[in-house]
Amino acid sequence: MTILVTGKNGQLGSELQALAKAFPKYQFLFTDKESLDVTKEKAVEDFFRTHNFDALINCAAYTDVDKAEAEPELANAVNHLALGYLAKACKEHQVKLIHISTDYVFDGTATTPYLETDSTNPQSVYGQSKLDGELLMKLVNPAHSIIIRTSWLYSVYGSNFVKTMMGYGKEKDVLHVVNDQLGSPTYAADLAKAIVDILPQLNTSVVETYHYANTGSCTWYEFAHTIFEMKAVDGEVKPIPTSEYPTPAQRPQYSVLNTNKIQSVFNIKIPPWTQSLKHSLDSFTETTGS
Ligand SMILES: NC(=O)c1ccc[n+]([C@@H]2O[C@H](COP(=O)([O-])OP(=O)(O)OC[C@H]3O[C@@H](n4cnc5c(N)ncnc54)[C@H](OP(=O)(O)O)[C@@H]3O)[C@@H](O)[C@H]2O)c1
Repeated sequence: MTILVTGKNGQLGSELQALAKAFPKYQFLFTDKESLDVTKEKAVEDFFRTHNFDALINCAAYTDVDKAEAEPELANAVNHLALGYLAKACKEHQVKLIHISTDYVFDGTATTPYLETDSTNPQSVYGQSKLDGELLMKLVNPAHSIIIRTSWLYSVYGSNFVKTMMGYGKEKDVLHVVNDQLGSPTYAADLAKAIVDILPQLNTSVVETYHYANTGSCTWYEFAHTIFEMKAVDGEVKPIPTSEYPTPAQRPQYSVLNTNKIQSVFNIKIPPWTQSLKHSLDSFTETTGS
């Protein structure tokens, strides 16, 4: 099987590149914005016409949640309209599409983990653009294709909360972190592995949605505190309410995802977030030497 991965230099794209080396039974094609800009319909059509592949993992996305409030057209182009071009091309060329979406499609008013069937109600431009992308993909309906919603992604690659916290730990004595938003940190390497495991099992005629996040949940404060503890960082973390850390985009107060469906349908076991964090911090040490 040959697999195209778009957005190769992002967190998930980079984890898939790292994983590809350990999966010699698959051929991988990796593209970035320069080699395949997913917002350009003709470029997408041309790429599909001139390359042979069986599956596409779409890691291309506009992910700056706060900046999206000021750049709604760009967020919409990448997260929504591009899905139409990719899904249409996948349908025409019988390519399976695995698309990644987000917990931010929910409004955060739930008190128990969100099911795939729960009502969506995004509170931000980013969340709306991701939901619109999901809906467009479902409308085009390429065969053997799925949407995977994930949450609070981090990796040794790219920018993310874990890296930010480790940087702060070196620079600041007291760090204030929001303690009233609850979610599930997800190690992008775990998600990458799950996607590659799931790929050969896809056989649905209608686009299905799944939730993938490391199990368990925490607040951003608890996440930061755990990173500091595991890395034995000297700095102090203090909890604050969201009201004391205003951001341009509103985030859901609760965005824990129920992952039973993906685990049972594809027979995969998702590790707890603390276990994956510990494992990833070891990789940070190996990669950065810090
Ligand atoms: N990060 C999170 O916390 C989080 C949480 C929930 C869901 N997700 C979803 O998970 C997926 C992967 O996220 P991630 O954190 O790996 O994202 P990421 O690190 O921001 O990577 C996204 C990649 O897409 C590329 N890209 C942007 N516009 C493009 C275009 N027009 N054509 C082709 N490539 C383009 C970016 O390139 P440039 O850097 O050059 O722009 C970047 O390499 C996304 O769908 C995201 O919405 C992420």
